[in-house]
Amino acid sequence: MHLIETRDLCHVYPGNVRGLDRVNFIAPRNARIAVIGANGAGKSTLFKHFNGILQPTSGTILIRGEPITRENVKEVRKFVGVVFQNPDDQIFSPTVEQDVAFGPMNLGLDGETVRHRVEEALRVVGITHLRNRVPHHLSGGEKKRVAIAGIIAMEPQVLVLDEPTAGLDPAGVRDLVDFVNSLARRFGMTVIYSTHDVSLVPEMADIVYVMDKGRIVASGTCREVFVQHEMLASVRLEVPVIPRLIGALRQEGVGISMAYTFDEAKNAFLEAFGRRG
Ligand SMILES: Nc1ncnc2c1ncn2[C@@H]1O[C@H](COP(=O)(O)OP(=O)(O)OP(=O)(O)O)[C@@H](O)[C@H]1O
Ligand SMILES: [Mg+2]
Repeated sequence: MHLIETRDLCHVYPGNVRGLDRVNFIAPRNARIAVIGANGAGKSTLFKHFNGILQPTSGTILIRGEPITRENVKEVRKFVGVVFQNPDDQIFSPTVEQDVAFGPMNLGLDGETVRHRVEEALRVVGITHLRNRVPHHLSGGEKKRVAIAGIIAMEPQVLVLDEPTAGLDPAGVRDLVDFVNSLARRFGMTVIYSTHDVSLVPEMADIVYVMDKGRIVASGTCREVFVQHEMLASVRLEVPVIPRLIGALRQEGVGISMAYTFDEAKNAFLEAFGRRG
């Protein structure tokens, strides 16, 4: 049984705007899943179905094999934590600490457990120093981290992050990549995220879904998806810089192995050209 599965999921917004068109999406256990697609492709709409914020116009969404109902939606939200694209939609308490405590308190956990989870979430996301600040006066990237901490503190099995790197500084992006990878590796969590930064995807995805106009137009491993140059260009995306560069060198007849991540590329270059000196 998959953690999340959609079958021919369609969503039509008022005004007959098609948000999702027959989407078949599967989130297996312990996977890092990237959803990429141009503005308006349907990523946020899909994510809002994962915890019952939106309901299908037609088709089905199953969480651990069960449709979302009014009776189980609270359980579903414990299991699937969604961090929205705009942190202002998610932050409303007078202090950062209270904001992060809101979710675990609503789960009915005792005070000691809540305090422990808040500490841990603030630490993991690197915002312990912001704990007494007013969330609405924080910078965009700081707010984003507060929203992530609030969801992490609920310890969901599936973490959904809509554009988590948007607005983060370079060190913040690096931290986020490490954080996502460690959640999957250390806690066996499934992480689903959207991004426009395709170069990050090989560093933090086992499975990639490509969306366009509400549909899933390709899916597979990075290797399977990022060889489809024309398809990616046709949906306003591009091949990440590392496979693009190495692919171009190979086209020129350079004997170098294909690579997708920074480390793979480093090894491929060393293997092809040797160490100097
Ligand atoms: N509340 C709404 N009412 C009507 N149409 C909507 C609504 N929300 C989204 N849409 C439309 O649904 C489509 C998909 O939007 P969605 O926000 O899911 O795209 P996205 O892939 O998340 O884009 P982005 O990369 O800009 O975040 C777009 O055409 C959008 O205009
Ligand atoms: Mg979006």
